[in-house]
Amino acid sequence: MEFIRANADWFYLIGAVLFILTLRGLSSPKTAITGNRYGMIAMAIAVLSTFFIADHPVVWMIGGAMVLGAVVGIARARTVPMTQMPETVALMHSLVGLSAVLIAVAAILHNNQISALFAQNEAALTAAGVQHAHMSKVHLFELFVGCFVGAITFTASVFAYGKLAAKKWAKTIAGAWVKPVQATLFIAMLVCGFYFFSTGNMPAFWAMTALALAFGWVWIAPVGGGDMPVVVSLLNSFSGWAAAGIGFTLENNMLIVAGSLVGSSGAILSYIMCKAMNRNILNVLFGGAMGGAAVAGAKATGEQAQRNYRSGSADDAGFLMSNADSVVIVPGYGMAQGRAQNAVKELANLLKEEGVKVRFAIHPVAGRMPGHMNVLLAEADVPYEDILEMDEINSDFPATDVVLVIGANDVVNPAAKDDPGSPIYGMPILEAHKARTIMVIKRSMATGYAGLDNDLFYNEKTMMVFGDAKKVVEDMAKAINGTGH
Ligand code: TAP
Repeated sequence: MEFIRANADWFYLIGAVLFILTLRGLSSPKTAITGNRYGMIAMAIAVLSTFFIADHPVVWMIGGAMVLGAVVGIARARTVPMTQMPETVALMHSLVGLSAVLIAVAAILHNNQISALFAQNEAALTAAGVQHAHMSKVHLFELFVGCFVGAITFTASVFAYGKLAAKKWAKTIAGAWVKPVQATLFIAMLVCGFYFFSTGNMPAFWAMTALALAFGWVWIAPVGGGDMPVVVSLLNSFSGWAAAGIGFTLENNMLIVAGSLVGSSGAILSYIMCKAMNRNILNVLFGGAMGGAAVAGAKATGEQAQRNYRSGSADDAGFLMSNADSVVIVPGYGMAQGRAQNAVKELANLLKEEGVKVRFAIHPVAGRMPGHMNVLLAEADVPYEDILEMDEINSDFPATDVVLVIGANDVVNPAAKDDPGSPIYGMPILEAHKARTIMVIKRSMATGYAGLDNDLFYNEKTMMVFGDAKKVVEDMAKAINGTGH
């Protein structure tokens, strides 16, 4: 224990380097598992060194909290379906925000308690040469920022969780009153925070915290469903900055480094996602432009309900694909929802055996979380070289015989390119409509996440194959097997 205490900075340095290697590893599917392992080791080093260097740790309390956290974490990790991962991540961010608030509160109350004790016995303590060091301005600033960023992260993440889990209480808000209310809350929060910072006034601190909690909610509630992935990634970034703020308060270098890594990587991911959706981050957060998507979509569905489309059977589709030279599979949320990834891999293998060139096209926001499709395809052992990103495959669609869209909708919606009135106009899409033949597996003509109708389904080159993704893909495979090629 003494050894760890004496060399804590070295342990933290090793942990920090491992965290950086973790991020590097996670940047490619091939190195992701190793990256994860680095992360586990780094976290173990961080937790254990902190535990051993803490002054008189209340072992039973900390140990109890760690065991409880581990039990809940392991149970959740084992049971959470992949489709509920985004909301689970949002909920976890909320806990980081909440802990930043609680630590700031604890640090301030602790300091106030010491000040009060000192004041009671000032004469005796001064005579004995004991001096009470008041909290420095820098420290107050860290607490003020850490607390309000944590509070905003907490309520905004709880809302994001509710929205992604389709909870009734997480209602999108809209109206002319929203922006003035946001601005008033934000300014009032800053005023109270600066008053606390300059005077140490506790009512101002409580008011700032309450206003930050309210602001977090009112800030995220108007953001439309289509923009939620960016928001979750941004909240990830915020939770990192809040953790770094706590690191300063606790004078813990490891937490400062780890928090900054999460903060900056989350910010970079938000930027990449905004670019992928051709959205401006400020517009996402304050424009609420996608907020109307569901309404616009509902209208569009009503207007276009009578349009004609062509549907076919899994047998027909299987036959057509086995006679093609090239097939590009576009997976979307429906593949995840239907847990069809293994069946899809089998289908791809069968087609390859027939001599068909098969590749997978991945949109950056397909599914419900960053990398959702990559994770599922990796789980099914689809070779990495068969998986292409949007920019790599888009120019190949015109020369592709068959595009098989499996439970994807928004990410192949041509309105994003052709219809300036569409809420998703400008978002880059997989240009499946340019292929010679398009087959779409879904259960109905229902809209996708953004609530928009999709012209691709009514395209004369498109054949809809209705049914649950897994069942339809299995039937296609049977049909190909049955052709006796
Ligand atoms: P969506 O546009 O959500 O469309 C998915 C389609 O899958 C639906 O139209 C649905 O139609 C079908 N489906 C659902 N369950 C199915 C099943 N069991 N079998 C067959 N089909 C099924 O998906 P997408 O194209 O992947 O686009 C993703 C959307 O989610 C984007 O708008 C994106 O902005 C948003 N989003 C993304 C993320 C990230 S980071 N990836 C996070 C949150 C939100 P039926 O009901 O007719 O079957």
